[in-house]
Amino acid sequence: MSYNLLKGKRGIITGALDENSIAWQTAVRAVEEGAEIVLTNAPVAMRMGKIQELADQLNTIVIPADATSLEDIENLYKKAQEHFGGENIDFILHSIGMSPNVRKGREYGDLNYDYYQKSIDISALSFHKMMQVAEKMDILNEWGSVVGLSYIAAQRAYPDYSDMSQAKAVLESIARSFGQRLGENKKVRVNTISQSPTPTTAGQGISGFNVFLDYADMLSPLGNATAGECADYIITLFSDLTKKVTMQNLFHDGGFSTSGISHALVERLSK
Ligand SMILES: NC(=O)c1ccc[n+]([C@@H]2O[C@H](COP(=O)([O-])OP(=O)(O)OC[C@H]3O[C@@H](n4cnc5c(N)ncnc54)[C@H](O)[C@@H]3O)[C@@H](O)[C@H]2O)c1
Repeated sequence: MSYNLLKGKRGIITGALDENSIAWQTAVRAVEEGAEIVLTNAPVAMRMGKIQELADQLNTIVIPADATSLEDIENLYKKAQEHFGGENIDFILHSIGMSPNVRKGREYGDLNYDYYQKSIDISALSFHKMMQVAEKMDILNEWGSVVGLSYIAAQRAYPDYSDMSQAKAVLESIARSFGQRLGENKKVRVNTISQSPTPTTAGQGISGFNVFLDYADMLSPLGNATAGECADYIITLFSDLTKKVTMQNLFHDGGFSTSGISHALVERLSK
């Protein structure tokens, strides 16, 4: 169902790898809601994923950019502006996460520090870089909206989430600091959404993922939020209905973050 919530708005969506990606679902919903978008992902994802298929479906373009590279981000914004006939943009989705330590199965007590820095650079500093370049190029319209995706491991210990926990804590902190700055300077809002475990490529890379997916589902009164539901929430944050929501980490998790135990878990653990 479309409400035309993003009619006349233009935006950049990072991180669509395949149809499971939160970014993929968001791109589809944004266009349904009347937005014009461009897609971007790391050059390596062009080979691995199906982003060109999505671009064809949505009648738009893909601009490859490694989100850790300032030059790539500048080029992304320049090309996006060209695509939009010289117009500025109204929203950015940062949907990027990767930890080489997680990928290579390193234990938290045996992390490789070069990988650690890469995790933080890719998963958190890239959020800062995207906003810093956007501000310098003055590419965001007033009352624009920037959204990043986080996970509750920023606040709670999850053994196998590893250095991504620190990356998400940094990401959420950047949303507050840059949110304050962009709010004052440009009336642009910045938020992170802390999403339920979601079966995507990034999610399934975490060892024991299916267990904490099931656990979260059993603890959450409304059940886990899907990628599609996350996309719906992101659309509201890009829309004019949330103009004064900023510098927040917003839990989108079916109630998980404020639950202690549930009847379903009591029943399961009583067996
Ligand atoms: N899946 C979950 O359980 C879950 C839960 C909460 C938050 N998140 C967050 O949601 C976001 C999107 O992840 P997803 O679950 O849709 O998985 P996904 O694997 O579909 O998306 C992650 C994306 O990051 C991109 N990426 C990696 N390195 C990059 C780089 N250097 N430059 C640009 N892009 C790069 C990948 O190509 C991929 O498209 C991530 O920030 C993730 O941490 C995921």
